[in-house]
Amino acid sequence: MTDSATTPGHTDDVLDIPFPDAFAFDPSPTWARLREEAPVVRARTLTGAQVWLVTRYDDVKLVLADPRFSRAAVVAAGAPQAGVSKPLPNTLPTTDPPEHTRLRKLVSGAFSHRRVEATRPWVRELCEELADDVVDGADLRQVFALPLPIQVICTLLGVRYADRERFRGWVEPAYSLEVSERPRVEAAMAGLLEYMGGLVAEKRRAGRSDDVLDELCATALTHDELVAFALNLLVAGHETSANQITSFVATLLRDRWHWERLAAEPGLVPGAVEELMRFTRLSDVGQLRIALEDVEVAGVVVRAGEGVMASIGSANRDPRAFPEPDELDLARTPNQHLALGVGPHFCLGAQLARIELQEALGVLLQRFPGLRPARPVDELVWRRVLVSGLAELPIVLE
Ligand code: HEM
Repeated sequence: MTDSATTPGHTDDVLDIPFPDAFAFDPSPTWARLREEAPVVRARTLTGAQVWLVTRYDDVKLVLADPRFSRAAVVAAGAPQAGVSKPLPNTLPTTDPPEHTRLRKLVSGAFSHRRVEATRPWVRELCEELADDVVDGADLRQVFALPLPIQVICTLLGVRYADRERFRGWVEPAYSLEVSERPRVEAAMAGLLEYMGGLVAEKRRAGRSDDVLDELCATALTHDELVAFALNLLVAGHETSANQITSFVATLLRDRWHWERLAAEPGLVPGAVEELMRFTRLSDVGQLRIALEDVEVAGVVVRAGEGVMASIGSANRDPRAFPEPDELDLARTPNQHLALGVGPHFCLGAQLARIELQEALGVLLQRFPGLRPARPVDELVWRRVLVSGLAELPIVLE
């Protein structure tokens, strides 16, 4: 067996993640250096846990898809911790096959390509309605990017849209990356669990309708399992798309030529959404996995029990997989980006996200070809949270 301390690609430096320059449009230059010099390297998470950081496309793909890297082990007692908030057990992202396969089957019908594609006209209508609030001086995140996916996921799950202020008040702090905010993070997570617990109990009493939560109530999931599962769907189903809508618009406006090109050639939108997914990153380092046995990655042996973070953001900028990776090429093809993951944990909401992003951009480009940022986009503030994005995107209309 190789000794990791002397293996090529290994360095003894321990990097702190997320990097200090993580919250910005452009990826930290450290990613490119690591891909070249140390593709599997030691890193220290916010909580002080030492993990391996994997940066090249092929290696990231391996870690995401290979069952020897477990997500269930992340919630086991004594496991290294990546963030301040503790992941909930019994959710899709925190189970391994066969348990994961069993849980995923419960919702795969509701999120299937066919069922989700049928919602496209309704999503488009929502975009059109919300676009009426996109007025001069508005914050695009608040008036459009957040309400759209919240309304969509609430409707699909059977969560009251009117409760959005309430659960958003907890979602914001629950995924903070500030270790000093741990009590606030824990209180917010407790608030979310209590809220979802109440909703699930209410739905069980009310009997069946045709939303996803009702479908889940009819399964053998226990109350706690169902609450964790539903909470994950609610949060994963809006925080991601909301950040991406805002980041996509800002990225296109950052070099206005891209916005103008897409407005002139709307047929490019679906491909542009894929390229924007590759180009903008929701999280610098991704989700922690734990090796169940010794596994060699790029010549480094990751030992059983050790944590591994596979950086999707870095993989998506790897010149081994994408020519001119730092160029935004709206017509890029092929484009096998990893923004939605790969393997058994591939994003459940992938098609829903694609529809939201395509329709959101389509409507904004059509209605507001003259849209501009009210401030230079490079001066906008990024949120230091698990799933990152701009804190606001004030706009002006011409
Ligand atoms: C642009 C928007 C989105 C992006 C970039 C995104 C990205 C991802 C990625 C990278 C993963 C895999 C993580 C891993 O393997 O460690 C994932 C998983 C997941 N996503 Fe998304 N997502 C988006 C939108 C959504 C939406 C709208 C939903 C709605 C339900 C959703 C639900 C989920 C769930 C439940 C998982 C866990 C799947 C599993 O573990 O089997 N996501 N997402």
